[in-house]
Amino acid sequence: MQRGATGPGVGADLHGREPADAWDTFNWLHADSILDSEPPKHTRLRRLIAGAFGRGHVHRLAPRIEELAEGLVADCAATVSEEGAVDVIEALAEPLPVLVIAELLGVPEPDRHLLRPWSQAIVRMYEVTRTREEDEAAQRACGEFAAYVEALAADRARHPGEDLLSDLVAARDGTDRLSPQELVATAVLLLNAGHEASVNGFGNGLASLLAAGGDFGDPVRLVEEMLRHDSPLHLFERTATHDTVIEGVHIRAGEKVAALLGAANRDPAVFAEPDAFRPDRDPNPHLAFGAGIHFCVGAPLARLELATAAGVLLGRWPRLRVMDAVRRPTFVLRGYERLVIAPA
Ligand code: HEM
Repeated sequence: MQRGATGPGVGADLHGREPADAWDTFNWLHADSILDSEPPKHTRLRRLIAGAFGRGHVHRLAPRIEELAEGLVADCAATVSEEGAVDVIEALAEPLPVLVIAELLGVPEPDRHLLRPWSQAIVRMYEVTRTREEDEAAQRACGEFAAYVEALAADRARHPGEDLLSDLVAARDGTDRLSPQELVATAVLLLNAGHEASVNGFGNGLASLLAAGGDFGDPVRLVEEMLRHDSPLHLFERTATHDTVIEGVHIRAGEKVAALLGAANRDPAVFAEPDAFRPDRDPNPHLAFGAGIHFCVGAPLARLELATAAGVLLGRWPRLRVMDAVRRPTFVLRGYERLVIAPA
């Protein structure tokens, strides 16, 4: 089975989007990305990324993530004392993963505000319905994002740093060979995947926790339940590369399968009381990070970020209430536009 070549959305197309000239950058960014590759290309890209992660970048970032979370929660406290409540998406869920992935890849501070709008424009294409304006915004975002990463990679080639982009550049120039387009596609994917789901994972999970009430328990176990109960990536699409049978259903080569991760995570055959939010659920074999060869390579980082953010926020306010909650009008990447909270 292979994923659709244009991302995890229902509208993905294995052969890229048409007209090809308008979608050129979008198409190669996806075709050259690890998420859309099959072995042996996938094995090679995964080895390079996992190797770069394995060189201690996540471990190196742990105290920094704590520091960033402490700073953002202190800002939340200032807003709460002025306004009585704070939008936790804007103040914590969104900035933390963006700052972390930007530091990991080595995106200079003045440019970090560019990442979220580019990423948002691109992931809009994974949804079921889209407008012409959204299509054009995604095409523009791909062009700008790719050009930006290309220039940054050229700079890292001249002045290597301690960051993951420098590692990927070294890999490009080494024996394993990342092609120039693979390098850009990999960095763009890491910057996007490295924060989109984490933003929504935190917002969704916190809303579930607060709706359930009660104690939050151990942040590490709590995070697994946050990801299970209201999964940030609800759907992944894959395309059969050959005829196959899943649970008695015959699927022919070329046909698409929608893997509903959100539904799998509420499967009563796997989880007792699947709709209940239990912060201490154990075991918790959820599929929020997918499964198989494409299992999320950023899962250790995501878990660390979410547990740190939850620990710092709930450490300061063990009891919180939701004042206002507005969902995004999206299905594939499920999350909140606003989640306004206040100390209970
Ligand atoms: C709560 C946060 C996150 C969630 C829920 C999530 C979820 C997922 C899912 C469902 C997949 C596809 C798995 C499959 O097809 O079976 C995936 C793949 C991937 N994720 Fe994440 N992710 C998160 C955070 C991150 C972070 C922080 C990074 C990077 C730093 C990242 C990088 C990737 C990459 C590169 C892949 C492609 C792996 C491959 O194709 O081999 N993700 N993620």
